Amino acid sequence: MNIIKVDDYQAMSQWACQHIIGKINQTNHPVLGLATGSTPEGMYQCLIDSYQAGFVSFKDVTTFNLDEYVGLAIDDPNSYHSFMQDKLFNHINIREEQTHLPNGNTKDHQQECKDYERLIQQAKSIDLQILGIGLNGHIGFNEPGTPFTSRTHVVELDPLTREANARFFNQKQDVPTHAITMGIETIMESKEIVLLVSGANKAEAVKRLVTGELSESFPASILKQHDNLTIVVDQAAAVHLN
Ligand code: F6R
Repeated sequence: MNIIKVDDYQAMSQWACQHIIGKINQTNHPVLGLATGSTPEGMYQCLIDSYQAGFVSFKDVTTFNLDEYVGLAIDDPNSYHSFMQDKLFNHINIREEQTHLPNGNTKDHQQECKDYERLIQQAKSIDLQILGIGLNGHIGFNEPGTPFTSRTHVVELDPLTREANARFFNQKQDVPTHAITMGIETIMESKEIVLLVSGANKAEAVKRLVTGELSESFPASILKQHDNLTIVVDQAAAVHLN
């Protein structure tokens, strides 16, 4: 495990952006695993700026997102499909058919999970997976108690997660109760993982990850078993780390 401490959110975003550009430029047909939420927004803006400045091309890039809410139409403003279009895909030269998110708005969610998992397997493996962390230690939407052996599946969102994500919705009740998420084992099969952590509210979570025990009650704890994990943490989140 490699821990990189940076000053603030902007420095974290820049580091992640440059790392992704390096990976894209060094890899033949790179496959990226992407996250949504507040954490990667600055990184996506930096990638857009870098594309517009001619430093990177997404022509040969394939992406797989971690998760999507169940029950939201793809074009719902709060869907993760919409998030990715707005924050990244609409502004770069990625081919739409090479971007993937689970479809949370199908009739058969179990089939959707199998199909999504198969697509990931067919893409060989994810070269670089970007992660954020939930206050409860979730990665993707793998909530506490999820088996470390899980593959892509439907989850019931933890009340803490629904509360944390209510800021994006008009009212708390509008936050979906379920999501489809890449499983923990699926995430762990990525060749490289970069976990981004920013802000004082994540300080406890990153401390527990770095110093705590391996436990399914804290899903991110599995990441320490990965042989190519980098945690990029800003000062506010690193206050409890030595
Ligand atoms: C999002 C995801 C989640 C978030 C986590 C942190 O695709 O998989 O695990 O990374 O909930 O969210 P933010 O970044 O909004 O604090």
